[in-house]
Amino acid sequence: MTTTTPKRYTVTAALPYANGPVHIGHLAGVYLPADIYVRYLRLQNRDVKFICGSDEHGVPITIRAKKEGITPQQAVDKYHELIKKSFADFNISFDIYDRTSSKIHHETAADFFLKLYNDGKFIEQTTQQYYDEKAQQFLADRYIVGTCPKCGNENAYGDQCESCGTSLNATDLINPKSTLSGAVPVMRETKHWYLPLNEYEPWLREWIVEGHKGDWKPNVYGQCKSWIDQGLQPRAVTRDLDWGVPVPVEGAEGKVLYVWFDAPIGYISATKALTDDWEKYWKDEETKLVHFIGKDNIVFHCIIFPSMLKAHGDYILADNVPANEFLNLEGDKISTSRNWAVWLHEYLEAFPGKGDVLRYALAANMPETKDNDFTWKDYQARNNNELLAILGNFINRAVVLTQKYYEAAVPARGELTDYDKQVLEVLEGMPMVIATYIERYRFRDALAELMNLARLGNKYLADTEPWKLIKTDEERVKTIMNIALQISGSLAILMEPFLPESATKLRNMLNLALGNSWADAGAADLLKEGHVIGKPELLFEKVEDAAVEAQVQKLLDTKKANEAANAVVAPAKEDITFDEFSKMDIRIGTILAAEKVAKTKKLLKLTIDTGIDQRTVVSGIAEFFNPEEIVGQQVSILVNLAPREIKGITSQGMILMAENADGSLAFVQPSKSIKNGGTVS
Ligand code: 2FM
Ligand code: ZN
Repeated sequence: MTTTTPKRYTVTAALPYANGPVHIGHLAGVYLPADIYVRYLRLQNRDVKFICGSDEHGVPITIRAKKEGITPQQAVDKYHELIKKSFADFNISFDIYDRTSSKIHHETAADFFLKLYNDGKFIEQTTQQYYDEKAQQFLADRYIVGTCPKCGNENAYGDQCESCGTSLNATDLINPKSTLSGAVPVMRETKHWYLPLNEYEPWLREWIVEGHKGDWKPNVYGQCKSWIDQGLQPRAVTRDLDWGVPVPVEGAEGKVLYVWFDAPIGYISATKALTDDWEKYWKDEETKLVHFIGKDNIVFHCIIFPSMLKAHGDYILADNVPANEFLNLEGDKISTSRNWAVWLHEYLEAFPGKGDVLRYALAANMPETKDNDFTWKDYQARNNNELLAILGNFINRAVVLTQKYYEAAVPARGELTDYDKQVLEVLEGMPMVIATYIERYRFRDALAELMNLARLGNKYLADTEPWKLIKTDEERVKTIMNIALQISGSLAILMEPFLPESATKLRNMLNLALGNSWADAGAADLLKEGHVIGKPELLFEKVEDAAVEAQVQKLLDTKKANEAANAVVAPAKEDITFDEFSKMDIRIGTILAAEKVAKTKKLLKLTIDTGIDQRTVVSGIAEFFNPEEIVGQQVSILVNLAPREIKGITSQGMILMAENADGSLAFVQPSKSIKNGGTVS
């Protein structure tokens, strides 16, 4: 841990796989905390580079390409652009958003491998690996699933169990199965290069277990310690795949670098692409390196990548890896395959201009120490009851009253009461309080303090009531409004990391010079006497019930669709003879009339022209059809079903219905018009 202010910062955010759009889980886990941190550092005038890009290699990409019937290159091109744009639209302020398919990255990753190779840091080993004979391919990483030997999760991947976070070798899996063909794989010999993590164990113990105790977050430290305590194994850093960075040595044709070997090197190559000065951000001990990641990435950033860097020898190591836990959605795990997510690009389309509202809802509920849940109800409440009712309301009162009483010029402060002094004291201390939380990666607490300042401002105005006092004590009102404006000015600075768009709006509203930095916040004379502020503008709008209800409905539709897709088809009934079947007299008929059966929810009384006669049938289909809409439709009717009395009506026969997985019904109809009475057999 660095105790003095570092000379510069390199802040990385996990490179998202370019295999799908970004969702709120990614944002709350990684990109939002990283962005808050970096924006704060910039306001402190620190030298910082914020690095990210698309992770374009590995099995996640090839699987997605196959699913969409496109090439891996087409897949990464498509998703790289989508992800890059949605991050920019959400004001994630990377200094560079690069991609690992770039030439500079291929060269950097290959050089890194070669350095370790030439320095004898790898073990070269020919071993038996899983091979899919049907697909004619070795099965690496996500191409193979099986039961995790640690936690029993039946869908652990060949390189990692996402359930317990354990890093695995494919041969560790119990009951392995190919995800390409479903086949049980066979063993086949292949040569690979391994990083002997076991050799780095003593050093990792010293660096993490002893060196970062009480400094790294307990969830991160605990996971690392437990892996180190369990003993580390050599780890293959190459794969038999045709998509990735080719292994740059002879005898390695058809092999590429393991995606988790090349991806973190992507942080370095992106910095190279950003600035010629890149080395000082990666090789100078006075640089503080911080990796923002989700908890599933801890092993790679705390054990494997640092061991690679240590083996290389030229690079600095992470000062901290403030990994977050996971965000759930409406009580259920976010899942790409089940489409159980709020996708960033869709949110931005549905809620234009409301990026900050999502930032606020996610930051206030950030899964810093445990998994948390995002609900649309909470989103709405955060906006309406906090952003709008507290922050927005305070600013609006301060600006509107200043316009009204002083033609927008900041009034002079007179003599201060104890209350004024108290408020100014809290204001003065606030930048330090918030900064301390941010520097400790406690973004929720930092945001809560920011809102406390707005709350204090609101309370101050509510307690002093300048709108009443103006009639009796104009001088006192000047002091009150001056103090309210100082709080507003500080809020404009302090809220920037969390709510960048609203902060810009507020700065403009207050005519605050752009150069303001964190150090200016808290001052009692941030807005000088006589300074003219701008026109009031609403910072936040109400989020209406209809808007969140539409989102909840979208999720309910998704759930329904998933249930339908996963519904098990009922098994076939027992065999019957042809004679038994031919006892049924099924005819085509036409519905002549339809009406609801009184006092029932499900029943319709139908009059059917069966060709033989016109008869009444009572059918339990009222929940799915409007009586008016089905008149004239042809249906299949079992005409020799014995008549039955239903709700006092004699039902003669039964309409045949097809039932969907979600329980909805459809008529069984001829594909072209058939004369009434035509037989079905
Ligand atoms: O888990 C993921 O989405 C990975 N693509 C993260 C990579 S982070 C870094 F190492 F590149
Ligand atoms: Zn597991």
